[in-house]
Amino acid sequence: MELIEHLTFLFLVTLLSCHATLVLGDRSSYIVHMDKTLMPKVFPTHIHWYSFTINSLKLMTTNSFDDHRKPLRLLYTYDTAFHGFSAVMSKGELEALKKNPGFVSAYIDRSVTVDTTHTFEFLSLNPYTGLWPASEYGKDVIVGVIDTGVWPESPSYSDDGMSEIPSRWKGTCEAGQEFNSSLCNKKLIGVRYFNKGVIAENPNITISMNSGRDTKGHGTHTSSTVAGNYVVGASFFGYAAGTARGIAPRAHVAMYKVIWDEGSYASDVLAGIDQAVADGVDVISISMGFNDVALYEDPIAIASFGAMEKGVLVSSSAGNAGSIGSLHNGIPWALTVAAGSIDRVFAGGLTLGNGEKFSGWTTFPAPALVKDLPLIYRKNISYCNDTEALSTIGYSIVICEKGSVYGEMRFIANSSAAAAVYISDDAYLFEFSDFPNPGVIVSTKHAQKLIDYATKSHASATIHFQQTVVGATRVRAPVVASYTSRGPAPSHPGILKPDLMAPGTLVVASWIPNTSTSFIGSNIALTSDFVLASGTSMACPHASGVAALLKGVHPEWSPAAIRSAMMTTAGHLDNTRGHIRDSFFNYEIATPLAMGAGQVDPNRAADPGLIYDATAQDYVNLLCSMNYTKNQIRTITRSGYTCTDPNPDLNYPSFVTLYNENTKYDVVQEFNRTVTNVGGEETSYEVRVKAPRGSKVTVAPAVLRFGKKYEKQSYSLRIAYAGNTSGVVASGEIIWVEENGVHKVRSPIVVAPMIPVW
Ligand SMILES: *[C@@H]1O[C@H](CO)[C@@H](O)[C@H](O)[C@H]1NC(C)=O
Ligand SMILES: *[C@@H]1O[C@H](CO)[C@@H](O)[C@H](O)[C@H]1NC(C)=O
Ligand SMILES: *[C@@H]1O[C@H](CO)[C@@H](O)[C@H](O)[C@H]1NC(C)=O
Ligand SMILES: *[C@@H]1O[C@H](CO)[C@@H](O)[C@H](O)[C@H]1NC(C)=O
Ligand SMILES: *[C@@H]1O[C@H](CO)[C@@H](O)[C@H](O)[C@H]1NC(C)=O
Ligand SMILES: *[C@@H]1O[C@H](CO)[C@@H](O)[C@H](O)[C@H]1NC(C)=O
Ligand SMILES: *[C@@H]1O[C@H](CO)[C@@H](O)[C@H](O)[C@H]1NC(C)=O
Ligand SMILES: *[C@@H]1O[C@H](CO)[C@@H](O)[C@H](O)[C@H]1NC(C)=O
Ligand SMILES: *[C@@H]1O[C@H](CO)[C@@H](O)[C@H](O)[C@H]1NC(C)=O
Repeated sequence: MELIEHLTFLFLVTLLSCHATLVLGDRSSYIVHMDKTLMPKVFPTHIHWYSFTINSLKLMTTNSFDDHRKPLRLLYTYDTAFHGFSAVMSKGELEALKKNPGFVSAYIDRSVTVDTTHTFEFLSLNPYTGLWPASEYGKDVIVGVIDTGVWPESPSYSDDGMSEIPSRWKGTCEAGQEFNSSLCNKKLIGVRYFNKGVIAENPNITISMNSGRDTKGHGTHTSSTVAGNYVVGASFFGYAAGTARGIAPRAHVAMYKVIWDEGSYASDVLAGIDQAVADGVDVISISMGFNDVALYEDPIAIASFGAMEKGVLVSSSAGNAGSIGSLHNGIPWALTVAAGSIDRVFAGGLTLGNGEKFSGWTTFPAPALVKDLPLIYRKNISYCNDTEALSTIGYSIVICEKGSVYGEMRFIANSSAAAAVYISDDAYLFEFSDFPNPGVIVSTKHAQKLIDYATKSHASATIHFQQTVVGATRVRAPVVASYTSRGPAPSHPGILKPDLMAPGTLVVASWIPNTSTSFIGSNIALTSDFVLASGTSMACPHASGVAALLKGVHPEWSPAAIRSAMMTTAGHLDNTRGHIRDSFFNYEIATPLAMGAGQVDPNRAADPGLIYDATAQDYVNLLCSMNYTKNQIRTITRSGYTCTDPNPDLNYPSFVTLYNENTKYDVVQEFNRTVTNVGGEETSYEVRVKAPRGSKVTVAPAVLRFGKKYEKQSYSLRIAYAGNTSGVVASGEIIWVEENGVHKVRSPIVVAPMIPVW
């Protein structure tokens, strides 16, 4: 005890003497990274060290300039995914702290973006019901979900048929407001909540739901998508009816609530990931991201590095910003998931008075009676958004030919029209479920027929709602969603991101039961236990669920191996056997910047043949090759790392070459890759290459021979781009085809213009 006092005194004197004058001022929350190897031996634990460090700063801030609204204090200590703490500090206090020998780096707490662009506007489905041998897989795997909390009473968290909680589980079911710790069970095995960061930013705030209970619906949706139990008879107002289930319906779920009605901050997100790893989850699913930050200031990048070292794969969403170079979570040691559509259509049947039938798109949430009403068409293009013009049409069905469908819906709702037929092919209309008024959207290719009929006298029509068409072969699927954020990743464009695509558009999963999920007109709010939601937020948990299943089948695989298996087996063709298209770019062929390797294919991922593995040291070598300072690297790796072999050429299952559009567009880039045989024993693979347009791709050797399982073989790949400065994004592929044809190991290649980098 005496020794401790003495040493801490010395420590304090050192600290004080460096900073006779402190500039004080408004305090903010900071996340501070510390090098735990430098912790003075006097401290029994890191918590003592960090508390002492903060308390010692207090001694220096006893003057009148102090920000009394936000006292200096420790928020969280972190010890699993990285070492450090978050604290409310002034700039002056931070400067003093920086002189502490263990200090690595600090950055201000920042706000996080949840990757659903809207909430109740999205309706959804689980497309892979039936594709999954699911009740077998996922057993004993634990998925940690970092999100808005959970609605524990949802039938998706019933533990019917669930196995016992794995004995390695160290988590807990934290009680709180309207949340009793007995609400957890063998499905929902843990719930914790983290809001010190939110409160620190807004000291006067009252947390309206101070527990793991979800008040937004997002976390209930994502966690039930990953691993919800079977729920018979689920539907969204009659659409997408069927048995709902998560991708890994026998996996256990642990929820870490870090997003609040009152705000969301990095310090809380970090605390959630850190705790999830410490509790013993196998996979982390995180449907949110930080925009415009470097990797060493991105809490998800930092925390997922520690998770990766402990063998935990972090699966994250690419973001919903749409455009090229807007992707977040471009983290080389995490999985980054883009969103696509599924082959299910929410249909409304339009029957004309002459008996002709058309199928339109609608998610109007009620069985409205729109039968044998006059069908009206006016040539004047603005009349569907003109109150006065619409006042003359009476109780009828009106055809709206051009204009903004969502805009026109509001005018139609306020008119005497019973329903509308909107003529449009706009991709985004089929990605969201907001449809507050009776109506259907019909393709422009039927426009002339409809109009010809409607301009005859006594034209009439009938609309039937709540029809769902599954496996609709007329609909290309998957199609890359218009909203999904595209690579290259501004935080590190040298690794191709996103990694792959999963269903994200109109995904059905559980929701919280007491908020409005849909509207009829502008004032009738509806609630539903299941919701169709769209976003990369919905895509991410599909991939997380697949990762959980793979972890169940191959517990020895590293996070990089699981990601590799998912990428090299992903599909780049759609249900028409043509290339997957991109709805944002007028349904042109999607590039890897939009969909990565392609649509995740769970069954193939279980048996990939070869894997591209990577160790923690490989990621360190990558970081060492980047233009980062020592402390920036240490922020990510925590203590101890050596830059003995800086190497930008990570053993990644995809290839990207960037050219400068303005100056120099001819580029030669060489890559080395090592693959591990996880398929048969003695076997060999032959290469097949499709070079991107404007490039020459050479691979050597052209054949890889393996004598036994787990043997490794290496090859080199050289891309020589001599295209032009048109800014074109060109894609290609390399496939290693096994001699017996069983395994095909495909990697995408993309050549693209450079983007601004963070
Ligand atoms: C939780 O709720 C149940 C039922 O309402 C009750 O029996 C139990 O005592 C509660 N447990 C705790 C820890 O509050
Ligand atoms: C917080 O509450 C105190 C006392 O009620 C008040 O004086 C102060 O203005 C409030 N601060 C903010 C930021 O709302
Ligand atoms: C179309 O309708 C608008 C609004 O009712 C009106 O101002 C305009 O004159 C009409 N145009 C034609 C060509 O009828
Ligand atoms: C109605 O739609 C037309 C065509 O899209 C547009 O030019 C006009 O500005 C719109 N008017 C209103 C009031 O939204
Ligand atoms: C709705 O219609 C009424 C009368 O037709 C009109 O006075 C009112 O401004 C309209 N409201 C909106 C929001 O368009
Ligand atoms: C929803 O339910 C929760 C838990 O019972 C309650 O606290 C909250 O006020 C409810 N919200 C609404 C909008 O009714
Ligand atoms: C590397 O970082 C330094 C300092 O941050 C900066 O001045 C320089 O431009 C960077 N170089 C490259 C190639 O990004
Ligand atoms: C690939 O490996 C060869 C042989 O070890 C080496 O000479 C070359 O520099 C490597 N290329 C890259 C891009 O690392
Ligand atoms: C540039 O290259 C692209 C793709 O190779 C091609 O489509 C385009 O026509 C070329 N443009 C010019 C100006 O050569």
